[in-house]
Amino acid sequence: MRNRRGSRGSAGPAVLLALLLAFLVVATVYVFAAHVFPAPPPITQIAIQVDHQYSLTLYATGAAFVLAQLGLAYAAFRFRDRGQRAHFTRGSVLLEILWTCLTALVFLVLGILGSRVWAQVQFTPPAPDSIQIEVTATQFVYTFRYPGPDGKFGKLDPALVNAPAGNPLGLDPNDPAAKDDIVTSTLTVPVNHPVELLLRSQDVVHNFFVREMRLQQDAVPGMVIPVHFTADRTGRCEIVCTQLCGLGHYRMRSFLNVVSESAYEDFLKQQAAAQ
Ligand code: CUA
Repeated sequence: MRNRRGSRGSAGPAVLLALLLAFLVVATVYVFAAHVFPAPPPITQIAIQVDHQYSLTLYATGAAFVLAQLGLAYAAFRFRDRGQRAHFTRGSVLLEILWTCLTALVFLVLGILGSRVWAQVQFTPPAPDSIQIEVTATQFVYTFRYPGPDGKFGKLDPALVNAPAGNPLGLDPNDPAAKDDIVTSTLTVPVNHPVELLLRSQDVVHNFFVREMRLQQDAVPGMVIPVHFTADRTGRCEIVCTQLCGLGHYRMRSFLNVVSESAYEDFLKQQAAAQ
């Protein structure tokens, strides 16, 4: 027990802490409000909806953050040491129940709203006229495969995988369907055309992330994971791996080129001739 006879406490540390908290709030709100770290513009309708969902979450959690930190600043100042004896309080059970339920409600509503967008990506089959492209992740490169004019992917044999010899996927030369397969190191897709990617990994867990599409999906060894999208503007975006997959993880990236339908046809012809 402290004996503070004659002491009136000190407002200094309390004011300092309250000001520090207020500064933290203002600086944080500024970073978001001024878009100091802007995301690249979305290139799919889904990405626009994801952005909308992200904003909703940010507004809800941002409001909670501002209120909680300013409340803390107020309490730090209001209940500062004035030399009086401290007394013990058990808090309020009613308030505890109230804000626990409120928080749960906010999370539930955000989750339900977000599930619609999630379902469009994860639980909706791709359009029947989708272009299928296989994406294979390996330490530390992506390899893309188009089925070629026959529309069929040729057989792969893990025993034939030999990147230095020009067969990074292990295409079986004896399979007629493999003859016209096109293998590339960057991904080219036509604009406004649904695309279905089939993600594979040859070694460890990798990831396929394109910021402009707000699309991120792991590639897991032994699985073929489909993702689909329709890019609605042309351009070049970076594809990055976001799973720590080894020492070369930092340089594992490729590019997504969204081009016009005719440029896409030209690309396929050129690549077919170069195989
Ligand atoms: Cu692949 Cu990180």
